[in-house]
Amino acid sequence: MSRADQLYDWFDTRLDLENGQKFLGKAFPAEDSFLLGEVALFCFLLLVLSGIFLGFFFEPSTSDVEYEGSVQKFQGEEMPEAFVSVLHITYDVPFGMFIRRLHHWAAHLFVASIGLHMLRVFFTGSYRNPREPNWIVGTGLAALAMGAAYTGYALPFDEFAATATSIGYNLTISIPLLGDFLGKVVFGGEFPSSATIPRLYFLHVLVIPTAIAVGLAVHMAILIRQKHTEAPRESDVTTGRQTVDRENDDVIIGLPAFPNQAAVSAVVFFATAATLSALSGLLPVHNVAEYGPNDPASTPELIMPDWFLMWVYGFLKLLPQWASFSVGSVHVSGEFIGGIVLPGLVFAAVAAWPFIDRTESPTHFTADPLSRPWQTAVGVAAVAFIMIASIAGMNNILAGQVLDTSTSAVNPILTAALLLVPPLFGAVTYLLLRDGEPTPSEGGDVAADGGPESTPDGGGADPAPDAGDDPTAAESEEGDDA
Ligand code: HEM
Repeated sequence: MSRADQLYDWFDTRLDLENGQKFLGKAFPAEDSFLLGEVALFCFLLLVLSGIFLGFFFEPSTSDVEYEGSVQKFQGEEMPEAFVSVLHITYDVPFGMFIRRLHHWAAHLFVASIGLHMLRVFFTGSYRNPREPNWIVGTGLAALAMGAAYTGYALPFDEFAATATSIGYNLTISIPLLGDFLGKVVFGGEFPSSATIPRLYFLHVLVIPTAIAVGLAVHMAILIRQKHTEAPRESDVTTGRQTVDRENDDVIIGLPAFPNQAAVSAVVFFATAATLSALSGLLPVHNVAEYGPNDPASTPELIMPDWFLMWVYGFLKLLPQWASFSVGSVHVSGEFIGGIVLPGLVFAAVAAWPFIDRTESPTHFTADPLSRPWQTAVGVAAVAFIMIASIAGMNNILAGQVLDTSTSAVNPILTAALLLVPPLFGAVTYLLLRDGEPTPSEGGDVAADGGPESTPDGGGADPAPDAGDDPTAAESEEGDDA
């Protein structure tokens, strides 16, 4: 026995590697759009790594300290320590500016890839029975990703970020009965107080990333347990050991996890890292030196949240003054309705969606969006709704810089657009798809909805979910690869 075999044996007796090999043969369908989830995963990894670097130098404190770094205009000035430490990272720590930018761009790509991944899952119907639990876990992950970005936005404690973060504080304290308590827990009381940055820092570096990591572990565990969805097959697939009927979704056909899918994932990882490095090398981020430290006595001209929270800001801007009311001693403000209730309803609708578009029997094939008129129409209407709400969040720019008018003139138009354009887009999509030609995938989809079919060929296949681990399924793909 060679040394390598002996070493393998040593580990095998302790770690049951044979069992692990079965997992390494797990099949991954070769679909490009399935890589969006991986991009999100790798962004999270890069966020953690770059965040660890930043954590060595960031000081979560608002106490004033004298600035002695290399930005001339602040020399000798007393400024909040958090702000000073971010200047230090940006201008004096070797590679600090690059890593800070990398962290920033990774956060944006993280949220963007989550959004696109979610749209992929939505439009291909991959949330249907039995994947509803993973859709719900995913919805939670999307909310956590936004929470992570929001809490990070505040940390430099510059004039722009501190003012934008104060919107979140005002929304939190607007919650009837619980607002004051939550304001104290999340923001440490009055905004900004000396406890605000330490609280947000704690949430940003420990609580939220841990929750995301746990959520991701559950997301991946469910994915592995249930196996991926697979695009409908054009014909029966012959693998090394068996022929799998084109309509048999008990067996998944895909690349084996190792080495094929691992190689694809490595390419996705390096492509993600390279894109983020290029962005970080070329494009500056949130210029703290230009904004200056937080100054409670002044308000910056332009206040806006990050693009992915702009739709919430849009609700706040469009909600009329009269939307506030009181029930007994409890005051329900417009801020609470626009900033908490409406976004909460959006997230609740997203989480509830697999139970609205219900399928009784398990479905393991993806659907063609063009053959699902009403579901695709709802998706198109939802995307239009979020986009118009986001434009409303920038109503001051639209009014002042594009249309040369006032916000009070554009707001009624934006409100009408928010209420009318999404249903219109949805109706047009529905009518176009309803009368369209059925696509080839429709057959596979219908068969999958009707439950697994037993065919002479499929009868020889292992049942789900273990069939995904069957090296035969993986072998077939190696054949495809060649
Ligand atoms: C931190 C955020 C997230 C990460 C890192 C992530 C990662 C992944 C990965 C790597 C996969 C397998 C490959 C693929 O199908 O793309 C996957 C599958 C899935 N994800 Fe996510 N995801 C995230 C958020 C979400 C969200 C927001 C939703 C929906 C609300 C969602 C729903 C699903 C579902 C239902 C599947 C199974 C799809 C199938 O089998 O075709 N995920 N996710």
